Amino acid sequence: MRPAADRDAWLAALGLVRWERRQAAVDGAPAGAAEAVTAPGPAPAVAEPLDPGHLDWPALRACVADCTRCELHRGRTRTVFGVGSETADWLIVGEAPGAEEDRRGEPFVGRAGQLLNAMLAAIGLSRESVFIANVLKCRPPNNRDPSAEEAAACRPYLERQIELLRPRLILAVGRVAAQHLLETTTPLGRLRGQVHRHPRGDVPVVVTYHPAYLLRSPADKARAWEDLLLACRTAAGVAP
Ligand code: URA
Repeated sequence: MRPAADRDAWLAALGLVRWERRQAAVDGAPAGAAEAVTAPGPAPAVAEPLDPGHLDWPALRACVADCTRCELHRGRTRTVFGVGSETADWLIVGEAPGAEEDRRGEPFVGRAGQLLNAMLAAIGLSRESVFIANVLKCRPPNNRDPSAEEAAACRPYLERQIELLRPRLILAVGRVAAQHLLETTTPLGRLRGQVHRHPRGDVPVVVTYHPAYLLRSPADKARAWEDLLLACRTAAGVAP
């Protein structure tokens, strides 16, 4: 953890300086009301099976860079493999690259990325010390939700990233990442506040809001802070 003054500065950046009042203000909100919930469609049909289980980091990176498994490859500028430490204890999983990420080939580099960096800093983590990836490695047009087919086509890449990294904790940011990782249609509000296990690999998964959502709904930053504390306890082995 960072020194208290440093941490307070980051908490201020997160808008959490008035912790008690904000907490009281959001208590009345119904669980799960915060993010719009759309159940994913029917089970997707993946065109060709892919088993990248033998690939190391450079080979997996090259495989993603050449991927044409779904139509999104036609519109991309670059694939967005992920960024950070390949020996990180924490894996942060978001939804899909946006316009800026597509241009730069790096996840979470826009405004949402700045808030994600602040959230990590508030718990003493730098962007470089974690690994950050997305469910999709290519940008969906107009930032729409990933389709079931796209998510299924991309799934082997994220699963291999999890295998290679063997993180102590996965932090799923937003509904799409959480539902995809946990293979569920349960609303985000009901997935928060507990420690899940990734269906393959038994890695603990903690769910929180997407930073882009928090930019629109700053009152929920207090809840996100609770999620981060749960994630810290889980990574430290003091939560179930
Ligand atoms: N939102 C995401 O989910 N991922 C990114 O990389 C950027 C924005």
